[in-house]
Amino acid sequence: MKNVLVVYYTQSGQLLDIAKNVTNTLETSEDVNLSFYEIKLKEDFPFPWNNVDFYDAFPETFLQVPRELTDLDNPLLKQKYDLIILSYQIWFLTPSIPFNSFLNSDAAKLLLKNTPVITLIGSRNMWVMAHEKVKKILKVNKADHVGNIVLADRHPNHISVITIYVWMYSGIKKRLWGIFPKPGVSDKDIEDSKNFSMPILEAVKKNKFEDLQDKLLSKGAINIKPFLIVTDKRAQILFGKWANFIDKKAKNNPDKRKRLLNYFSFYLTFAIWAIAPIVFIVYLLTYPFTMKKRKEENYYYSHTKLK
Ligand SMILES: Cc1cc2nc3c(=O)[nH]c(=O)nc-3n(C[C@H](O)[C@H](O)[C@H](O)COP(=O)(O)O)c2cc1C
Repeated sequence: MKNVLVVYYTQSGQLLDIAKNVTNTLETSEDVNLSFYEIKLKEDFPFPWNNVDFYDAFPETFLQVPRELTDLDNPLLKQKYDLIILSYQIWFLTPSIPFNSFLNSDAAKLLLKNTPVITLIGSRNMWVMAHEKVKKILKVNKADHVGNIVLADRHPNHISVITIYVWMYSGIKKRLWGIFPKPGVSDKDIEDSKNFSMPILEAVKKNKFEDLQDKLLSKGAINIKPFLIVTDKRAQILFGKWANFIDKKAKNNPDKRKRLLNYFSFYLTFAIWAIAPIVFIVYLLTYPFTMKKRKEENYYYSHTKLK
């Protein structure tokens, strides 16, 4: 009997739907004992979000400051597993605070050590650099990172920016005015994520994970968008400056923090709607000269190895 654990946190339920589909043949297999562990915060984030709370989560998310968790003495975390699936979402180009808090906990360190791990991401579309942060922590925790699956919104970046805000601020995943597409990961992609479960089941049964990522890739586990990597990398630098600035300047001063976060929200809107299109034009102009780099990045970010 193989023991498999799925670790998750989700606000809308989207990530749990995905995780259940990705493990559906494991659930019904007589050879696998499948368990789900939900990450629980002592003080949870609101859902739906409001504007103040949404931006207030930014500095600590980006600076990867953990929050206190509960349920860390759950017996599920005390066992040894043949495979652990860590499902997480991205917040502000960084693993979400609940997931990051779990990953940095002593319980996770013990749990993940020398254990095969598949990461499963459910995000809007900008996940690449956040995932590098996760890869680093997995390495420190001595986990054996054997696979990565990413489900994201496939619509154009600016469309998904609008639809995700409406979803996050209303809590309802539906089409805006009947014109915009449904936000987040599409129903079809969530349904099709069942296709990943067979290679995972085979790998865990044979305890053979070396070629798992290539098998998952052949089923569409990752779809790299090179322009989003360019944007993500630039935004990491700017987000880092903002997060450190707000953290330093507004420590113990809630009014100042509110004001600075307000400036950040304006900056972000400006960056998305004014700077990103310029970066896109530069990207297009340099496109023919970046083919080799794009190819290398495509390979690197589709695999689990850390540079
Ligand atoms: C505060 C916040 C920030 C987010 N930032 C990003 C981001 O930088 N990149 C991205 O692809 N998705 C981002 N998202 C979308 C999430 O990754 C995720 O898709 C969405 O919150 C649904 O996840 P759920 O399963 O927790 O409901 C953000 C969501 C929230 C709430």
